[in-house]
Amino acid sequence: PRITFIEHDGTAHQVDAANGQSLMRAAVDNGVPGIDADCGGECACATCHVYVEPDWLARTGQRSEMEQSMLGFAAVAQDNSRLSCQITVTDALDGLVVRMPDGQH
Ligand code: FES
Repeated sequence: PRITFIEHDGTAHQVDAANGQSLMRAAVDNGVPGIDADCGGECACATCHVYVEPDWLARTGQRSEMEQSMLGFAAVAQDNSRLSCQITVTDALDGLVVRMPDGQH
């Protein structure tokens, strides 16, 4: 599936992600800046924070409770905030667009 990551400055990165990997892993493996993933995908750092384009929120699913509480620490969290390590890539996400918050680059 093709995923587009847009940096806070507007720079777009298109990535061919593999089914079953996390959105975070797809970004890191493809050198997308702005996804630091300090905790390695354990839902414990919030440095993989992304904003999901509103049209895609239904398909990316719900936040887990742990994700919800981590996002509570993110100063720039919005209604469409997700931790990208908690989103699993599937064919249903082909064409997904996510944006990185300010301060993550
Ligand atoms: Fe740390 Fe996602 S990589 S919360």
